[in-house]
Amino acid sequence: MKLLLFLSILIISQIHSDELMTQSQAIFKAIPSSYKALNDLIDNPNNRLSKDKLKLGKMLFFEPRISKSGLISCATCHNLSLGGVDGLSTAVGHKWTKNPHHINSPTVYNAVLHKMQFWDGRSKDLEDQAKGPIEAGPEMAAPKELVVKRLKSMPEYVALFKKAFPKKPSIDFTNTANAIAAFERTLVTPSKFDDYLRGDDSALNKQEKLGLKKFMAKGCASCHNGVGIGGSMKQLFPIVKPYKYAHIGDFNDGKPGMVKVPGLRNIALTGPYFHNGAVWSLKEAVFIMGETQLGTTLSKEDVSDIVVFLKSLTGDMPKITLPKLPRYTNMTPKPEL
Ligand code: HEC
Ligand code: HEC
Repeated sequence: MKLLLFLSILIISQIHSDELMTQSQAIFKAIPSSYKALNDLIDNPNNRLSKDKLKLGKMLFFEPRISKSGLISCATCHNLSLGGVDGLSTAVGHKWTKNPHHINSPTVYNAVLHKMQFWDGRSKDLEDQAKGPIEAGPEMAAPKELVVKRLKSMPEYVALFKKAFPKKPSIDFTNTANAIAAFERTLVTPSKFDDYLRGDDSALNKQEKLGLKKFMAKGCASCHNGVGIGGSMKQLFPIVKPYKYAHIGDFNDGKPGMVKVPGLRNIALTGPYFHNGAVWSLKEAVFIMGETQLGTTLSKEDVSDIVVFLKSLTGDMPKITLPKLPRYTNMTPKPEL
């Protein structure tokens, strides 16, 4: 009798866990494990990946001389050792200038999985996005002409651009952005949640599953879904209750507005949170989401369980060897501090 009871509980809990997996698979999508499927996912037909382009793109991502000062690279604000962010409330760029709108630097990891870029989703893809920060005054502050002049002055770059862009082998601003974007396309970080979505029930522990269940049941997944666990649409923020830090910065004049639903992969590494980086605790961020987006006051337990699930989205970082950048020449325009 006891054995029968034990067996039936086992079967019931099995059914429940199967249901949770099926439901999750309908809402989220794993980062594919096969090379071909992954390549299809991250590919841009207008900017095909190649070994040479990726080599160049990685160099340019770490290249501070595409900034006016010669000091700031993409990696300054998107530190790949630090979850792809700078860990600051608001970005700091050229001449120690804070972002004038008090905007937080989002991560570049998994940005390729998003259907739009920037907090307000104003850019359509990574190729388009990469041109922005190089020229932006408070970021890298480098006019196109300066970028091209600096790169052309180093023979190693001249040779690499030729290999990376055989059809249109010029050192120009578009090719520079395209090479950087190609490298960014490879920055995906599969986690144990992906193993779970691919059918490995043991990939998540009990509390992670409970958190996942609550994440779906409370309605979080109505916005944070798909392969990026977000990044697929814009939504009103805040909806139900005001955002209590709306006064920090001038995003949408502090009024409710449309914001890209951020992807939540590696969210445990990418604080501080929200467009103005006002919230340092992930628990507080989850609590605020309950209030502002869903009109529910989440209990401490709910918040903890959801945070445990969110931590399961911390992925394996791609192994990146530091690129060796070419030495300046007599022709290289000097840093302008
Ligand atoms: C001074 C810091 C700084 C530098 C340097 C910088 N970024 Fe950013 N990056 C930001 C900030 C801040 C945002 C958000 C801006 C916004 O939404 O208006 C951002 C947004 C992005 C996004 C969008 C991610 C998303 O989820 O929407 C990508 C991709 C990105 N940057 C890549 C780059 C690349 C590539 C470079 C180098 C060419 C670069 N960044 C240089 C601070 C910086
Ligand atoms: C109606 C859509 C919607 C729902 C529902 C929703 N979110 Fe969000 N979430 C957003 C938007 C939009 C933002 C960006 C807000 C901002 O920073 O301006 C966001 C931001 C976040 C952030 C901070 C991300 C970052 O990179 O700083 C976390 C964490 C988060 N949401 C978790 C949750 C959780 C957990 C739930 C459920 C309790 C939830 N969200 C429900 C739309 C939603």
